[in-house]
Amino acid sequence: PAFATRMQSGSPMVTDEEFTGNVKAQLAKLFGLSLKLTAPEEPDVEPLVAACTAKFGDYQCNNAMSLWAKIKGKRTQFRGPPAVGEAIKNNLPPSEMIESCSIAGPGFVNVVLSKNWMAKSIQKMLIDGIDSWAPKLSIKRAVVDFSSPNIAKEMHVGHLRSTIIGDSLARMLEFSKVEVLRRNHVGDWGTQFGMLIEFLFEKFPNYEDVNEKAIGDLQAFYKESKQRFDADPDFKERAQRAVVRLQGGEDRYRRAWAQICEISRNEFQRVYQRLGVHLEEKGESFYNPYIPGVLKALTEQGLVEESQGCQVIFIDGFNIPLIVVKSDGGYNYASTDMTAIWYRLNEERAEWIIYVTDVGQQQHFAMVFKAAQRAGWLPVVDRSYPKASHVGFGLVLGDDGKRFRTRSSEVVRLVDLLDEAKARSKKELIDRGKGQEWTEEDIEQTAEAVGYGAVKYADLKNNRLTNYTFNYDQMLNDKGNTAVYLLYAHARICSIIRKSGKDIEELKKTGTLVLDHVDERVLGLHLLQFAEVVEEACMNLLPNVLCEYLYNLSEKFSTFYQQCKVVGSEEETSRLLLCEATAVVMRKCFYLLGITPIYKI
Ligand code: ARG
Repeated sequence: PAFATRMQSGSPMVTDEEFTGNVKAQLAKLFGLSLKLTAPEEPDVEPLVAACTAKFGDYQCNNAMSLWAKIKGKRTQFRGPPAVGEAIKNNLPPSEMIESCSIAGPGFVNVVLSKNWMAKSIQKMLIDGIDSWAPKLSIKRAVVDFSSPNIAKEMHVGHLRSTIIGDSLARMLEFSKVEVLRRNHVGDWGTQFGMLIEFLFEKFPNYEDVNEKAIGDLQAFYKESKQRFDADPDFKERAQRAVVRLQGGEDRYRRAWAQICEISRNEFQRVYQRLGVHLEEKGESFYNPYIPGVLKALTEQGLVEESQGCQVIFIDGFNIPLIVVKSDGGYNYASTDMTAIWYRLNEERAEWIIYVTDVGQQQHFAMVFKAAQRAGWLPVVDRSYPKASHVGFGLVLGDDGKRFRTRSSEVVRLVDLLDEAKARSKKELIDRGKGQEWTEEDIEQTAEAVGYGAVKYADLKNNRLTNYTFNYDQMLNDKGNTAVYLLYAHARICSIIRKSGKDIEELKKTGTLVLDHVDERVLGLHLLQFAEVVEEACMNLLPNVLCEYLYNLSEKFSTFYQQCKVVGSEEETSRLLLCEATAVVMRKCFYLLGITPIYKI
């Protein structure tokens, strides 16, 4: 026979039960079986399945060309890639997912999904809940190290980006049933503490009564003490001794340190509270007691060397070494990070450690990861677990194209920035007459959801590596790719369902969803791509992929709604179910982006 024949018996029929929500993965499984039949001598060929961009089908399998390259010469029955494609198509096990297959160009196998299967799968999700479409990852525990501001220094927009991006990544992993250790790696152990403590003692002899109000602004306090440090050699000397006494664990110094940290912590908390972000603080100080042991082990492995009075780790491909003990014998950022990665891998048993900081720290992390590989804590081969990833991001710019700052001060107070976004969206609601219609609580909650959502979405929708411009008018625009537009779109869907007067819970069980109209089918297909998109966004650490999906979803919904009458039509039940499925998926997207949905506008 010209082609390997299709196995009729023994080829597994793929049933509903096996469908995990990820269409691409499911098709890849089917094509994997087909590839094994097509070329049994090449058992390790990875099925290459992708959503189609052209209109020949919904998905395509792209293995024919590369498989041809492997087997030509050995297998004379194939005359070229199209014949290989044909065989891949013919060897595909029967599945209720697939309506039809065709070959295009040099052997691409196009798949048209069965719209009955699509409709059934969406309805099943409505009954089982969206969690039934959660990605299945092979790891159990991850660390996401994010936000991580420095005590007594400014918490700037870079930390805001880290907080927003890190929270979204953590949410995607948690949705995928990974236990996430959300780590706030605050800078609470630098040499600046000597100066701060000494200044505290000087300014407040009864420092134990000192609270936030007395110190006022911790940043200003930091500046003042820095001035004192630079101007007065006596003070400087005392400050340096204070560091030693703090690190030596002297009680009075530890207490003063704890107090300063507490004030900072409260300030950070106000930002987290507004953003609805949860973090667990394990600051630099936490790892300090472990540093000597870790460095000792690294030294015994021969990784740590002496260089110009410092202890360093040399790393291939970098012209500077990683300094782990400074010439004065003190530890630094790198000693802490080497210890933290050791702790996370060996004590906390995390399989994936994700660090979210600006791109400026890329080299630092690349060196720490390489050093961890040399120590044997991380595998050398990429892609396998455990693994460590640096999630870098670009700058936030002001309208002037320079680093974002407010008019009044050289830094942006993050709390003010979030309050401003909320105030603006509140004003918008009042201008639209909601003051008469809604309760004060409704207004507050909606203003928060929209204002904070706008700030988050404006950040997340860009590829994180690019810089973006912070602009209230843009992010609060109710048209275009903004949170406001998306939140309103969701609220409109909810109001369609409400106005129908139907009990949607009842319809889920008794009604039947169909996808007969072309725009219903387009929307249905997009809904079914949710799981694979979340998985991609999560595995590639790119929340913008999810934002793009969400925006396209609302566009596809709006085409559907223009073309298909819902309430009062013959297809009302089915279409209400499709509205509900869209709202459910949108809400999950909002959730994964850390945005609170609104239900009315
Ligand atoms: N505190 C650092 C900063 O503000 C970020 C810490 C990131 N995490 C880490 N493990 N180094 O830049």
